[in-house]
Amino acid sequence: MKYNIPNHVAIIMDGNGRWATKRGLKRSAGHLEGSKTLKKLVKHALKRGVKVLSVFAFSTENFKRSKEEVDYLMNLFVKMFKDNFKELKENNIKIVFSKKESGLPSKLEEIIKEVEEDTKNNTGGIFNVCINYGGQDEIIDMTKNICNKVLNNEINIEDIDKNIIEKNLYQDLPSIDLLIRTSGEYRISNYMLWQLAYAEMYFPDTYFPDFDEAEFDKAIEIYNKRDRRFGGIK
Ligand code: IPE
Ligand code: IPE
Ligand code: MG
Repeated sequence: MKYNIPNHVAIIMDGNGRWATKRGLKRSAGHLEGSKTLKKLVKHALKRGVKVLSVFAFSTENFKRSKEEVDYLMNLFVKMFKDNFKELKENNIKIVFSKKESGLPSKLEEIIKEVEEDTKNNTGGIFNVCINYGGQDEIIDMTKNICNKVLNNEINIEDIDKNIIEKNLYQDLPSIDLLIRTSGEYRISNYMLWQLAYAEMYFPDTYFPDFDEAEFDKAIEIYNKRDRRFGGIK
């Protein structure tokens, strides 16, 4: 591909439930299929030269769903992080998680710590998994971190800038260049509010399980047609 590749791509992986319902299957079948799509997409995106890939796997608000669905998802995450992430580890990919400090089942919290520890020195691209994540909560938690540092005389109020704010978010990542939300919903649902400030947005109708490598390449093609001005004039 001769295209300009966005440095940081974020995906709101939406439409798993509708993908399954349309086929007369249980919603869980859509989540399982979505997990297979994700496995392929991570490899593909990094191969294309994306340096950071963020994905929205589970929002703080998703706990409102039925116990059956939440339990299914939590077990699926355990399985995915254990099995599928092995290949990413071997491919020198650093895996990080953007999340609230606690709230997930302890088995999952443990695996998350393990994966982060095992891949922390990898240099072949970053895969950021947002799980038990909310953009407003991230900003609240960042504010608390900074306030504590001010109280402990580690930071002067006058020195607070973009850089200090980013160092105190869940992960210190570059700005998002391209946001993709699948399934034809045109909203960001409390996703990376700070990091999306100047992102280009793309909202394909495709349900996430069907969002394959070719769909990803199409997103890159569309991104290349955008004129990013950042408030300036060309
Ligand atoms: C996204 O698909 C996956 C999660 C939120 C975990 P949905 O489960 O939201 O699928 P739809 O939107 O109901 O089709
Ligand atoms: C956003 O999708 C969260 C994830 C994809 C994990 P939702 O399906 O939860 O968002 P809403 O409810 O349509 O806004
Ligand atoms: Mg949804």
